[in-house]
Amino acid sequence: MNLLAGKTALITGAGRGIGRAIALRFAQEGANVAITDIRITDEVEEFIAQLNAMGVKAKAYTSNAADFDDAHKTVEAVAADFGAIDILVNNAGITRDGLLMRMTEEQWDMVINVNLKSAFNLTHAVTPIMMRQRSGSIINMASVVGVSGNAGQANYSASKAGMIGLAKSTAKELGSRGIRANAIAPGFIITDMTNALSEDVKKQWAAQIPLRRGGTPEDVAGVATFLASDLSAYVSGQVIHCCGGMNC
Ligand code: NAI
Repeated sequence: MNLLAGKTALITGAGRGIGRAIALRFAQEGANVAITDIRITDEVEEFIAQLNAMGVKAKAYTSNAADFDDAHKTVEAVAADFGAIDILVNNAGITRDGLLMRMTEEQWDMVINVNLKSAFNLTHAVTPIMMRQRSGSIINMASVVGVSGNAGQANYSASKAGMIGLAKSTAKELGSRGIRANAIAPGFIITDMTNALSEDVKKQWAAQIPLRRGGTPEDVAGVATFLASDLSAYVSGQVIHCCGGMNC
C-alpha cells in the first residue's frame, strides 16, 4: 500500500511507543517523516536510519512540545528540511497520576502543558503552512479517559478531553481551508507508559476489554494512517476510539 506517498508527517513524542509505531507505519505507506522527542537517543537515530533505508526521508528533532517557542522553531526547521507539512500528529504525552485531593499543582501543570498545551503549540505553528497548502490533516492523541474520566487521573483525563475539544474546534475553524482535524481515543495500549502500571491495574483493564487483550501501538497506528490519508478525506472533527470495544 502507498496511502501516504508524497506526504510529509510531523509526529511529536515519537521516540518510542505509539508515536514511533505511527512513524514506522507512515513510512511504510510512503510518507516522509519528521519525529520529535524531548530527547533523541542513539536508539532513536538508529530507527531514523531504518526509515531512511526504506526510501523515504526521515529526521529526528530534539524538541519540547510543551514549549511554545521551541515548538515553533521545530516546525520552522521541519518545513525548511522537508518543504511541506501535510500531517501533524500531536502524540507527546505523559502521566502524573494521583487522587485529586493529593494532586500537586506541579502534577497538574506538567500534564496539562505536555499533553494539551503542546498540541496548541504545534497546531498554531503548522496552521499557516497548511493554510498556504490549502490542505492538511491534524491528529490529536486523546484517550478513552478523556471521554469517560478516570479516578486518579483528573489531570490526564482533563488534558485528553481538551485534546478532543481542540480537534473539534480546529476542524470548525480550518475546514474551509481544506484542513481536517480529528482525535484518536486509545484505550489500554501496551507501551512503556502503561507498563509502569501495577499488575492489578493491568488485569482490571484487560477484564473490561471485549476483545480480551490490550491494544498494540500498531493498532493505533492503523487508525492514524486512516485519518492521515485521503481515505478519510470527508472525516473531520471526529473522535475515533481504538479500545477493543471497551465500555467508555
Ligand atoms: P510513551 O511514554 O511510551 O511515549 C511518549 C513519548 O513522548 C516518549 O518518547 C516521551 O519522551 C515523549 N515526550 C514526553 N514529553 C515530551 C515533550 N514535552 N515533548 C516531546 N516529547 C515528549 O507513551 P505512549 O503510550 O506511546 O503514548 C503516546 C500517546 O498516546 C500519549 O499522548 C498518551 O497519553 C496517549 N495514550 C496512550 C495510551 C496507552 O495506553 N499507552 C492510551 C491512551 C492514550
